[in-house]
Amino acid sequence: MSMQSAKVPGGPTDSPSPRLPRVDFEREPGVASRPHPIPAVPNSLVVPKRKSYSPATQMESAVLELLHKRVVFVAGKGGVGRTTFAATLALAAARSGKRVLVAEITEPTVQTYSPLARIFGQKLFKDRAHSIAPGIDGVMLEPRRGMEIFLRNVFKSRSLVALALRSKALRRFVQAAPSLHELGVFQHLLQLVGRVDEEGKPFYDFTVLDMPATGHALALTGLPGIILRLIPGGPIADALHSGQAIFNNPELTAGVIVALPETLPVSEALELLEGMLRTHVPVSTVVVNRLPAVHFSAEELAALRELPSGDDVMGMRGVEKICQAKACIQRLHDMTDLPIRTLKETMETGWDLVETLADDVLDKERHAGGTS
Ligand SMILES: Nc1ncnc2c1ncn2[C@@H]1O[C@H](COP(=O)(O)OP(=O)(O)OP(=O)(O)O)[C@@H](O)[C@H]1O
Ligand SMILES: [Mg+2]
Repeated sequence: MSMQSAKVPGGPTDSPSPRLPRVDFEREPGVASRPHPIPAVPNSLVVPKRKSYSPATQMESAVLELLHKRVVFVAGKGGVGRTTFAATLALAAARSGKRVLVAEITEPTVQTYSPLARIFGQKLFKDRAHSIAPGIDGVMLEPRRGMEIFLRNVFKSRSLVALALRSKALRRFVQAAPSLHELGVFQHLLQLVGRVDEEGKPFYDFTVLDMPATGHALALTGLPGIILRLIPGGPIADALHSGQAIFNNPELTAGVIVALPETLPVSEALELLEGMLRTHVPVSTVVVNRLPAVHFSAEELAALRELPSGDDVMGMRGVEKICQAKACIQRLHDMTDLPIRTLKETMETGWDLVETLADDVLDKERHAGGTS
């Protein structure tokens, strides 16, 4: 990948108010222009205007901006903290008074363990949204459930749907064909995001999706583009267009790339950023997770680095880690104009960790002069 191509205009240094990056629709290989126009946004999904922050608070507010979206996709390589950050956003949004849905995607094989569910004291989420904490529902997006919802929309007859779903052949087909897995997940997510209350308002103010690791994540975000080229019309295409109207719209949806402050994870994060933009996800923030605490001034760090290395004398390994983290953040700044937000490394795990990080995020909101 050309690293320069990950550079996204519209970053914090360009303007005093937080701007979202332009999504480069021209990037998909072999596609001269975006193949399908994104349909108009349904009224029920329109969100209020974003607040504006001063430049000094812009970095801090990058995560808070996410709370003003309807949908946030949290992506990243394995083990970088996607699940932790997804749970943190869910908690921060719930504490801001939003009705929240936190979703994860079932593995194609039967899943028996979910770190996300575990943070909320559950073994696994169910495939129907259910309460997991005050103001927060959890759901496991499940392809078969998504296909059921889709078939119901098409056939309008429960018995026909039940008959279709009882078919072993269809079940095997859904499990075996990779795009159908993603299509089912997509349908399931779309149905939940589009859910409205009695007054026609969105049932969930905020949905956060803990995405699978890179390859599977891009298979999901790239799905509409691929299928619409094969099947440009009909009920599947209609559903995909509806999904694009939400998931590719930077007013409603944001993608987040989570990375660790180390050389290889940063390279991988930049590749993922490129892939997400190519599949039209409006990525708005890079989160650098597990930033080591810095107890030294820049001068002290420089002086410590002059000392002979070898042993971990005076915590030299810690110093090296801090220097590496600084270099990684600089590299991210050089390669993309997206806001880069750091999350500190703590000694906590699970729910305690999520609470600490959510406090941190909301604390920044107070300093940024936000209200929600
Ligand atoms: N800021 C942090 N400080 C300390 N530990 C952290 C932090 N963020 C995440 N961790 C820990 O790192 C580990 C991996 O985090 P997490 O499960 O969120 O990553 P993931 O990207 O979802 O991983 P996977 O690819 O397995 O789904 C967990 O043990 C988590 O508690
Ligand atoms: Mg995870």
